[in-house]
Amino acid sequence: MTAKRNIVLVGFMGTGKTSVGGKLADMLGMRFVDMDDVIVERAGKPIPRIFAEDGEPHFRALERRVVKDLAARRGLVIATGGGVVLDPANIADYRATGVVVCLQASPEAILKRVEHDTNRPLLDTDDKLGKIRTLLAARQALYDAIPAQVWTDSLTRSQVVAAVMALYRKPPVA
Ligand code: S3P
Repeated sequence: MTAKRNIVLVGFMGTGKTSVGGKLADMLGMRFVDMDDVIVERAGKPIPRIFAEDGEPHFRALERRVVKDLAARRGLVIATGGGVVLDPANIADYRATGVVVCLQASPEAILKRVEHDTNRPLLDTDDKLGKIRTLLAARQALYDAIPAQVWTDSLTRSQVVAAVMALYRKPPVA
């Protein structure tokens, strides 16, 4: 029996990667892994402290290592951090052993999801919507470059789960 390819969810913060990934894993009987949780466990401190005490480059280095480790495994549903697309090697590694699916949402929908969250250092500002727009604009081309896409604004979580499952069963030819 060949082991199942991973399902790798990428997308901006607040696009639903963790909530969709957990449900998908339950439904498919696969193991769910949230990359941010692995990073926090390995660093021994929460993400805002990693950014504040060690800097973003250090966080990206930890993130890169976690990608390499998870991409070497099979049968996982992986929720990535929103910045995983910044290093093309991350996406290349994940594509080698899994189907990468990008969840997208409008800045307004993202804001609703992250408004009261204090765990995202990049959005730790009074003008959250402005920061979401700027960051998203800077990364949009990287998200758009992923062949499998789900626009989530008008979908329920179950509908997003179904859309990802369909893309996993029949991935677009890149
Ligand atoms: C980040 C997204 C976060 C987390 C870190 C940096 C980003 O993950 O990895 O705060 O650069 O977009 P989520 O997308 O799960 O919020």
